[in-house]
Amino acid sequence: MSRAFIPAAGHDFFLPLYDPLWRLLGGERVRATFIREAGLAAPQRILDIGCGTGSLPVQIAATLPGTEVTGLDPDAKALGRGAGKAAAAGVDVCWKEGFGDALPFEEGAFDRVVSSFMFHHLDLDVKRGMLREARRVLAPGGALHLIDFGGQTAGKDGALARFLHSHESVAGNLDVELFTEAGFGDVREVSRGRFLFGRYAHVRGVA
Ligand SMILES: C[S@@+](CC[C@H](N)C(=O)[O-])C[C@H]1O[C@@H](n2cnc3c(N)ncnc32)[C@H](O)[C@@H]1O
Repeated sequence: MSRAFIPAAGHDFFLPLYDPLWRLLGGERVRATFIREAGLAAPQRILDIGCGTGSLPVQIAATLPGTEVTGLDPDAKALGRGAGKAAAAGVDVCWKEGFGDALPFEEGAFDRVVSSFMFHHLDLDVKRGMLREARRVLAPGGALHLIDFGGQTAGKDGALARFLHSHESVAGNLDVELFTEAGFGDVREVSRGRFLFGRYAHVRGVA
């Protein structure tokens, strides 16, 4: 796409390393917990914004038959990997090239919007735009579930975690006000976790 974005592994060249690295860090377990905590279930229509190489949409479609899953990302190469995973798992996922703050979907088209570890890739104004767009495409009563790096670091976090958390795209990443400004109600932190890169949290807001 002509508009710039930060790809999954920071650079196209490293994309093949992205999935093995996540597996090493326990990404599959984190995603399984996220799916369970988000209360995803058939026959929901579910959109994953910034789905990257498609692991989350494929995991949702494989574990929850009867859901209608769409994965959106600006990176055509990453989406291609997602399509390969879906074919290997024998599941249907709709793949869409696009940006989180300009969603190519009708108002109220989804029951749940999810997003995992992509929010820190965005500047603050794009974060705001993405939250407004997530709110727009959710049906009344639907919910956004977002998991990403954020929250306070503590002394026992390593230097790498503390450095990454001080970056402006991560600091304040998951502030409740960002979600309420975009029109979400009942915003709350569902859970927190920690791994090598630092702390992450799962935040939920209701449309
Ligand atoms: C670290 S990866 C996370 C991928 C996936 N969600 C996961 O959990 O493995 C971040 C993804 O966000 C995508 N991205 C970057 N800017 C974006 C934007 N403005 N809108 C939607 N996705 C974006 C990147 O292309 C990348 O695939």
